[in-house]
Amino acid sequence: MAFTAKILLLGSGELGREFVISAKRLGCQVIACDSYAGAPAMQVADGFEVFSMLDADLLRAAIARHQPDFVVPEVEAIRTEVLADVEAEGVTVVPSARATMMTMNRDGIREVAAVELGLRTSRYRYAESLDEVLAGAAHTGLPCVIKPVMSSSGKGQSTVRSADQLEAAWDYAVANMRGDRRRVIVEEFVDFDYEITLLTVRTRDGVLFCPPIGHRQERGDYQESWQPAAMSAKAIADAEDMARKVVDDLGGYGIFGVEFFVKGEEVIFSELSPRPHDTGMVTLISQNLSEFDLHARAILGLPIPAITLRGPSASAVVLADRDADELRYDGLADALAVPGGEIDVRIFAKPTARPYRRMAVALGLADSTDAARRIAAEAAAKVRIHYGD
Ligand SMILES: Nc1ncnc2c1ncn2[C@@H]1O[C@H](COP(=O)(O)OP(=O)(O)O)[C@@H](O)[C@H]1O
Ligand SMILES: [Mg+2]
Repeated sequence: MAFTAKILLLGSGELGREFVISAKRLGCQVIACDSYAGAPAMQVADGFEVFSMLDADLLRAAIARHQPDFVVPEVEAIRTEVLADVEAEGVTVVPSARATMMTMNRDGIREVAAVELGLRTSRYRYAESLDEVLAGAAHTGLPCVIKPVMSSSGKGQSTVRSADQLEAAWDYAVANMRGDRRRVIVEEFVDFDYEITLLTVRTRDGVLFCPPIGHRQERGDYQESWQPAAMSAKAIADAEDMARKVVDDLGGYGIFGVEFFVKGEEVIFSELSPRPHDTGMVTLISQNLSEFDLHARAILGLPIPAITLRGPSASAVVLADRDADELRYDGLADALAVPGGEIDVRIFAKPTARPYRRMAVALGLADSTDAARRIAAEAAAKVRIHYGD
């Protein structure tokens, strides 16, 4: 075989695209899968498959057809039972079938973190009816956050400040959940000072950490991220300790995006992705090895002698503002010419736009995180999307 390994990538968005590039540089053959053609990762992969990864038969057939060494999920919405079966048959699922199953639903990972491992989380209850939502909110207190257990990117999620909003929040969660389990998590609203993603790499030689990444969320999606996030050595050590416990429990090799809320010196575990994290796109400029390079090396069992920060850095997203399937970009030259530091841009070349869809990201490296955030935001604002003809 001309390749170092064969990878079946499940999910072909912008994170998958950067992962494909990293894996290709190490000589891998990558088949990119998703439910629509022309997805970002498909454009740079060796081959592609278009099918619903929630369909057990189609997923099983794709794995059987390609006989990959590694199945690498990029998204949560996958029929994870199939991954458990193929893992039992000897295919390596990244990072592990258990990790994909436990993080597919919010209640899975919450039970691992809060109950099995005893980590500090927000107070919470699950609810499968309006009555249980009311009881859940009585337990957590108000404000509380209500989220479908099956959802991502903030879909179906709302913050409730008064009891008369609970019914609407339950209805909204049920209407916007993925799958058919009418189940929500009612969480105490954490009035955090800031939130971080701790990129945690589980390798054959041990667990490694990237410097913490700060980020700002709106409508359930990240708008900008920066690295390093200002955080005390004690808080970093606490977060690393919790992250290590969770990734060791989930098992396998690869990168994990472990999310925490920080209030004062208190670090509260929130959730995690057993794969590269969107806020971690900042590492495309900030580190010697990006989160995608780290994922590829960890999966392939290659050494990671050091993770070094090149300098204070930031990423800022470029969002579409309408539905369109004819797109044109300009302003790229202006974006790349923003002064004050190093600038880079990633255009994802998604085939269609819809309101708030992430289409590109601008990256900045400067003398301070504040300066990096400023130039990244400035560059992002210069990338303009034109719709239609
Ligand atoms: N309990 C909470 N208290 C305060 N803010 C929260 C809480 N849960 C979620 N959030 C906010 O909403 C964002 C998205 O929630 P998260 O649980 O990470 O869902 P997703 O899977 O959609 O990323 C978080 O990054 C945070 O900004
Ligand atoms: Mg999250």
